[in-house]
Amino acid sequence: MSVENVASSLPTPLSPNTLAGPAQAGNGSASSILSSLLGDNPYFQAGFGLMGVGVGLTALRKGLHLGANALRRRMLVTLEVNIKDPSYDWFLAWMAQQQSAVTAEQKSSILSPRSWLRSHELSVQTAYEQRKNGSASVGFKLVAGPGIHWLKFRQAWIQVKRERETRSQNLMSGIPWETITLTTLSHDRGLFPELLAEARDIALRNHEGKLVIHTPWGIEWKPFGLPRRKRPLSSVVLQEGIAEKILHDVSAFLKRRQWYADRGIPYRRGYLLHGPPGSGKSSFIQALAGSLSYDICLLNLSERGLADDKLIHLLSNTPERSFVLIEDVDAAFNKRVQTSEDGYQSSVTFSGFLNALDGVASGEERIVFMTTNHPQRLDPALIRPGRVDLSVRIDDANPSQAKQLFMRFYSEGEAEDAGWEKIDASELQVMGSTIEKMIEEQMHAGRRVSMAALQGLFIRSKAREAVEGVRTLLSEQHTP
Ligand SMILES: Nc1ncnc2c1ncn2[C@@H]1O[C@H](COP(=O)(O)OP(=O)(O)OP(=O)(O)O)[C@@H](O)[C@H]1O
Ligand SMILES: [Mg+2]
Repeated sequence: MSVENVASSLPTPLSPNTLAGPAQAGNGSASSILSSLLGDNPYFQAGFGLMGVGVGLTALRKGLHLGANALRRRMLVTLEVNIKDPSYDWFLAWMAQQQSAVTAEQKSSILSPRSWLRSHELSVQTAYEQRKNGSASVGFKLVAGPGIHWLKFRQAWIQVKRERETRSQNLMSGIPWETITLTTLSHDRGLFPELLAEARDIALRNHEGKLVIHTPWGIEWKPFGLPRRKRPLSSVVLQEGIAEKILHDVSAFLKRRQWYADRGIPYRRGYLLHGPPGSGKSSFIQALAGSLSYDICLLNLSERGLADDKLIHLLSNTPERSFVLIEDVDAAFNKRVQTSEDGYQSSVTFSGFLNALDGVASGEERIVFMTTNHPQRLDPALIRPGRVDLSVRIDDANPSQAKQLFMRFYSEGEAEDAGWEKIDASELQVMGSTIEKMIEEQMHAGRRVSMAALQGLFIRSKAREAVEGVRTLLSEQHTP
């Protein structure tokens, strides 16, 4: 963004006299010949007089116009925010919020102290989120569209001009270039920083305690959907010591930035979580990011239009404090053999991917998490240290995990929230131990159940039913 004070570069307004100059060019030899020829002719004299008035008036009008321009420039101050700047989205969101405040207050007063006039040019920003289970949610936000809007901020009027340059757009993302120009009286110039700070604070407050997921947008990362509530790390129950191991490794890495720099080692770390479906890999990574106040950059290697060069750019330009998450990393390259229904082939090559992960062009700090259900399918080149530094198996429920999950679901507060009957703690312990034993026995018989399946069961059943449910679940399971 740039605050521009136009007053300093004023062109001096032309005075009517200077403009009228040529008309009065009565000096010099040419004019003396003219005057000697026509001097005595009254018609010509009157003609010249009229012409003089005409030219004078035009000059005056021009002068006034320039003067007004100069005055406006001296008195007004403009602030330009372009689409590349983070303030751009903050400002639009802030403005949208003012709008909704106005709509609510409209009945009492048309112009609340901070409001923008009901605009007729709106744009919609849609946040669409498709979850893995197929459900989706959509949120709409109405923001100021291209055009001119007015808003009042701390008693000062501000003109907001949103312009879209359709001829120039980001080649990769196809997003047209846009700017917002705010104009107000010079005397209120101090309001700009205040306004932007307010917009920023609101934007960041919305993210506070939330997890932001970014997805590629052309060659840039953009927040995807609304920030989500963080999931407590303790809500993902992994095998004994596994969560601690990963957390410890990440924390140790984050503390050693200088150590890496001193030795000239690229400051990067890669993790691979592998194991059967529904064991908590994705959930754990999200919870971990949340607990460290990191964002997640979700990268889908088989995404349409993603090519090696884009991938390199994306991986070296991740937002600060973010994990790159690549799910089902085995699938990306197996898929290339078979084309998808529309005959489209992903154009990220395996070697391109390896290069993007650790080639010379890759960026500075980076933490990459990869997940897979089939670690055996991964090329050894991918899982060598430097690309994957810690590989951890996240397995189906073991007896103690199952018991812990059960206790979490049916402990006092939780049961009440779900509207279930209260079961006293000792009885709950007994039930938990029953489940624990059941799983243990069945594991010997080679039967396993995923944590996701247990969660599904606990969500829909009361504590007593859950014990029976686990038995059924186990009997339905086949040996892996
Ligand atoms: N260890 C766990 N502790 C608590 N909940 C779990 C655990 N594992 C799975 N779940 C629950 O099961 C659901 C699916 O988990 P998640 O998506 O993390 O599995 P995943 O290992 O990533 O599976 P996939 O390999 O299919 O991607 C989530 O709703 C999650 O809450
Ligand atoms: Mg997953």
